[in-house]
Amino acid sequence: MSHPIDVRNQQLYDLEQFAVPQAVKNDLQGILLPQGLIDNRVARMGEEIAKNYAYGNTLAICVLNGAQHFYQQLLNSVFPSVHNDIQLESIKCCSYDGTKSTGEVQINGLDFTAVRGKNVLVVEDIIDTGLTLSKLAQKLYEHDPLSLEIACLLDKRERRNPQATVKPEYTGFIIPDRFVVGYGLDFNGRYRLLPHLGVLKEEIYQK
Ligand code: IMP
Repeated sequence: MSHPIDVRNQQLYDLEQFAVPQAVKNDLQGILLPQGLIDNRVARMGEEIAKNYAYGNTLAICVLNGAQHFYQQLLNSVFPSVHNDIQLESIKCCSYDGTKSTGEVQINGLDFTAVRGKNVLVVEDIIDTGLTLSKLAQKLYEHDPLSLEIACLLDKRERRNPQATVKPEYTGFIIPDRFVVGYGLDFNGRYRLLPHLGVLKEEIYQK
């Protein structure tokens, strides 16, 4: 359905070519995706989603905290083309400690009764092992949605756990197995405001 842009073999852009605060620059290897490219790709994903949810009874769930910026941008491009309101909810899924997945997923913050009979769109920033979204999708299905689709901005396909069942309907970019920050994604709460997607230096998360 979606045609993700594959940047797994792409060289990083030089940090000197972009407006990035010096303190953040020191911690990055380079820029993988500049803001303008991400924004336009997200607008295109929004067009596809708008077509499929035009008359829906839609519930759009933001997976906090990393997807917040993506969710906002995506829905800004979906909303003007739909004929109904969209119900907005968010959910918190925790499986990460720094850059390592703990393998255990905790899900909080949603009244699951809101899911029944709805066309549910889950909006996630990045799929890594895929275990978080597989667990979340499984839990949502237990509450009888009319339909369930997933939009994710970034897919680290090489890292997928064989037990992960998740297959997103809309994907922005396929990225290499490197730890990325910016465009809402963080490392221990930092770098979310960086407008581009940058690659974090290994020495920062191996300290
Ligand atoms: P999964 O269960 O391994 O797919 O984990 C997905 C979650 O891991 C995402 O929602 C992010 O919070 C986090 N994550 C995975 N890779 C990265 C990364 O490169 N940067 C920031 N967060 C990441």
